[in-house]
Amino acid sequence: PNEPPVVFHWLPIIGSAAGYGNDPLNFFFKCREKYGDVFTFILFGRRITVALGSKGNNFVLGGKSIVFNAEDAYTHLTTPVFGKDVVYDVPNEIFMEQKKFVKVGLSTDNLRAYVGMIEEEVEEFLRTDTAFSAFQSGDVNEWGQFDALKALQAITILTASKTLQGQEVREGMDKSFAEIYNDLDGGFTPLNFLFPNLPLPSYRKRDIAHKKISDFYVNIIQQRRNGSTTDHEHDMIAALMQQNYRDGRPLKDHEIAHIMIALLMAGQHTSSATGSWALLHIAERPDISEALYQEQVKYFSNPDGTLRSMTFEELRQLPIMDSIIRETLRIHPPIHSIMRYVRDDMPIPGTLAAPQKDSTYVVPKGHYVLASPLVSQLDPQIWKDADKWEPTRWSDPEGVAAQAYKTYEDAQGEKIDYGFGAVSKGTESPYQPFGAGKHRCIGEQFAYLQLGTIIATIVRHMEIKIDQVPEHNYHTMITLPKTPRMISYRRRK
Ligand code: HEM
Repeated sequence: PNEPPVVFHWLPIIGSAAGYGNDPLNFFFKCREKYGDVFTFILFGRRITVALGSKGNNFVLGGKSIVFNAEDAYTHLTTPVFGKDVVYDVPNEIFMEQKKFVKVGLSTDNLRAYVGMIEEEVEEFLRTDTAFSAFQSGDVNEWGQFDALKALQAITILTASKTLQGQEVREGMDKSFAEIYNDLDGGFTPLNFLFPNLPLPSYRKRDIAHKKISDFYVNIIQQRRNGSTTDHEHDMIAALMQQNYRDGRPLKDHEIAHIMIALLMAGQHTSSATGSWALLHIAERPDISEALYQEQVKYFSNPDGTLRSMTFEELRQLPIMDSIIRETLRIHPPIHSIMRYVRDDMPIPGTLAAPQKDSTYVVPKGHYVLASPLVSQLDPQIWKDADKWEPTRWSDPEGVAAQAYKTYEDAQGEKIDYGFGAVSKGTESPYQPFGAGKHRCIGEQFAYLQLGTIIATIVRHMEIKIDQVPEHNYHTMITLPKTPRMISYRRRK
């Protein structure tokens, strides 16, 4: 059978590692020009078949999860970090049940409780972190600077631990937890994806950190079971402790612990990267920055001129804030490559790519398939001024952006069912920063809430500016802004 074209490369095993690793977007666009929407490239001995465009997204993400398998693609990266018996260390049916448990914890009721907590946490950070001394001085004419990514990383983990993770984890952040977390994080890199086991210190540190963090959570769970701590009705540990698998079995302590680690990792880099990109762009665009502040003033002014807190419902109805987050996720989707391992030969639909009329390509068993929402989200054939960050593109209800978003939302509402025998369905929307189909993100609402509250709180307190938004660094698991990424700020009058 016909296999898709293989990207030309000089080095047999290494293949296109440099091109892909340094700048996947440019690499994919170049390959598309030469080979079309479907092609295979070599990455350290792996054969990766890329399917681009919205049809490509649909082919990969809407494919049968047994054949296009996420566990086989990710487990050697994730299991040493998250731990046994969860996520990609279990058959997909079990993980789907676990996703459903997490959804219970992310109830609207819980999310509502989080807005105020996040706001307080951000304000506390601005009052105490050394990067914000110019803010703390109280002088409205004094400018200071902060590193966008560093600040957002700190704020993201503090706010996630305060809310989802729970009080004990939040307290741990002020103590040893933060350091152990960094060691764990050092084991969640592209190197770990490519080479599951290397005799390097970072791999050893990862394993030690995993054990410590896992014990830390198990200890919290046991203390809660003994009734020695109270007041955590809205956090995820509490939600998970009340759930049962289909066969009636409750979650074991280590399963809860490992799901908590998985959520910590899933939410931390994605949200902190998105938040820092959003702030960098806002800082570069005085017009948007002012509009965003005025939106806060319009909706939340008290009679005395101060601003009151937002509610969860109100937050989801702020057009400018919403379009800023959407647009940031369009240009900077934190996950640029979504992969699956191919367990059985899979024909490629002729509408996506075909060698000639009346014949088809096949992706052979043993390949990986890769979808890149980054490519369809930046495709100049779809988006006007595709690589320009322009939140106003979302405000035209008939526009390309709004239509793409609608397809994305519809596909989610209608077809995905995390219940028993869930049917998976891909979506053909060119906009899918949270993925699509059976493995679609369940943290979207939480991420919007967290990002919206963090951005609003910062913009309420400070004016921010920067001359230029930095370039992408693709060498990390999640696409990050390169240094320098210092934002100038001063306290608002
Ligand atoms: C899955 C993006 C935040 C939990 C995914 C996927 C993407 C994604 C693209 C699909 C991965 C795949 O198909 O292989 C994002 C972005 C975020 C974000 C852009 C923030 C801006 C979060 C948060 C949580 C979370 C805050 C948890 C609270 C998950 C989970 C999955 C997932 C559990 C399911 C993985 C699977 O079924 O295989 N996310 N995510 N994410 N995400 Fe997120």
